[in-house]
Amino acid sequence: MAINLESLKGTYDRYPNEWATWKHLIETVEETAEEFGFRQIEPPSIERQELWTEKEEDSVTDEMYAFTDKGDNEITLVPEQTPTRARLIQKRKDLKTPVKWYNTSKRWRYEDVTRGRDREFLQGDFDIFGVESVETDAEIIAAAATIYRKLDLDNRVKFLINDRELLESILESHGIEKTEEAMKVVDDKEKLSREEFLDDLGERGLSREDAEQVDELTDISGPILDQIDELREKAPEEVQDSVNRMESLGEALEAYGVADMCRFDLSIVRGLAYYTGLVFEAFDSEGELRALFGGGRYDELVGQFGDREVPAVGFAFGYSTTIELLKKEDRYPLKEVETDVYVLSVSDSVRDVALDYGVKLREKGLSVETDLVGRGFGSQLGYADDINAKRVLIVGERDLENDQVTVKHMESGEEEEIGKDEIIEHLKSENFI
Ligand code: HAM
Repeated sequence: MAINLESLKGTYDRYPNEWATWKHLIETVEETAEEFGFRQIEPPSIERQELWTEKEEDSVTDEMYAFTDKGDNEITLVPEQTPTRARLIQKRKDLKTPVKWYNTSKRWRYEDVTRGRDREFLQGDFDIFGVESVETDAEIIAAAATIYRKLDLDNRVKFLINDRELLESILESHGIEKTEEAMKVVDDKEKLSREEFLDDLGERGLSREDAEQVDELTDISGPILDQIDELREKAPEEVQDSVNRMESLGEALEAYGVADMCRFDLSIVRGLAYYTGLVFEAFDSEGELRALFGGGRYDELVGQFGDREVPAVGFAFGYSTTIELLKKEDRYPLKEVETDVYVLSVSDSVRDVALDYGVKLREKGLSVETDLVGRGFGSQLGYADDINAKRVLIVGERDLENDQVTVKHMESGEEEEIGKDEIIEHLKSENFI
């Protein structure tokens, strides 16, 4: 039987050259997490469905890869890690707060597959548990901003920040009926034309007049501190605290030096039900791609899983859309497979010597390949080029008789004869080791 060699729709076979860029991205995200003091966790990839179905249902619940296992348990591949983390926090009452966790791993959602939306995908989650403060919110956003600074994409992305409570009460205080329904449409505003937006609001039962008001009110958008006066004017008395908090967040983001990347935007809602206040999402500055990452504050989710209430804030970095952004910016691939040294044996008789060089160079932490195939000179050189070897150490019988080997610098093509015991010193002198 001929097997279908294609991977399932929305899943990808990433071969080494492609994976090299992903790996670099993962390293950038994880290095940032470590710099901010987040600790790595590694929870399971399969969970009980109830973690998602027992709480308020949201966009993710319908997309789960859910099944009944052989022990009759209702299981799902994790569509996102936030409920898993809430479970881990609820389970371990001894953890000292703040708890700061990160992890990059696969998630699964049965979605319509589009550019940047896959069925099997990587997310990098960052969360801080146990502290309800503006400082925590700012630190989470600053960590995300640092990732894009490191990737030199900071001026190609914009972070849109909102507070759900603020939005809801502004809509309510302006007499909008069916605010909950309205907010579901507001969440899609950036994808819709004005007419489509008004029509969708109408379909959810809003009058034309209310729909137009929603459209106008949710247009409040711009640098955070510049929006505060308008918000103060439009927000009812009972949520003035939220306006003050947004102002403090704007100031804290200035202190972190990331305010230039952030904007307030009253139309950000997010599809997940558990957010309680702050919500944010990042987009490429031209608004062409789907969200690069998303997150917010969810102070009640942990409490839904047991007797302990623990406030939380976090986000998940979406690798797929960030890769799409790199492609759009002509920055892809960021990396390809690389090898430090290829040791070329000119003839079979020097194979053992070549292997010995391999051992010595690997001891210095270099990535080294030697010939495994018995290839000729030219074909070994071609292979060294394929694996992006930076140096080729040519080991030949005649050279060895003169106590010499040759080092070829692959980028410049230059060759240099050196003493047979001088390779380490030579690479050190070139700052290669
Ligand atoms: P989310 O908005 O569902 O939030 O996902 C966060 C990011 O993951 C999205 O902005 C997107 O970049 C990426 N992503 C989501 N679905 C897909 C997909 N099907 N294919 C490729 N990338 C995708 C959450 O998942 C929350 N749990 C985030 C969070 C963590 N909130 C607090 N802590």
